[in-house]
Amino acid sequence: MSLRPLHLLGSPVLRERGVEVGSVDAEVETLVRDLFDTMRAAEGVGLAANQIGVPRRVAVVDVGDGDPVTLIDPVVVEQFGKERGEEGCLSIPELYGEVDRATRVVVEVTDAEGARTRVEATDLKARAIQHEIDHLDGVLFIDHLSPLKRRLLLNKWRRLRKGASGYLKELDAAPVRD
Ligand code: CO
Repeated sequence: MSLRPLHLLGSPVLRERGVEVGSVDAEVETLVRDLFDTMRAAEGVGLAANQIGVPRRVAVVDVGDGDPVTLIDPVVVEQFGKERGEEGCLSIPELYGEVDRATRVVVEVTDAEGARTRVEATDLKARAIQHEIDHLDGVLFIDHLSPLKRRLLLNKWRRLRKGASGYLKELDAAPVRD
């Protein structure tokens, strides 16, 4: 098990567009494993590679339905419906906001054998997938909020981060509950 430090809001890599992976090699397999380990240690439902400092188009989602999703070079090919719901982000801990997302998505991804395949998801899982794909484009959930709400959250973030240095958060292997 390998946990990687999380990059927090302010770290430039969160604003980078990830580079396409293309073929899945051992390095990508390790990246996927580390993403799952790190996401679970942080008790999140999704994590994108740039959140652990790797600007490549890889993300993972696990909403606890027994069917975790690996997103390699994901592309949304169909989306339906719209629903507002609360979101948070492991890179912006303790801040939450209401974001409109499609209620059902069909996403094309590359599987472990390098073939393009489709993943379908609804509700929370669809929301998490859209949130993670945003990350791969350097987009954060706060970008979807109204300017006023966004400003309020950023002010709160500055207060929370007062005295903190750098933009990395080390994780403990045992999850810490707050
Ligand atoms: Co996030």
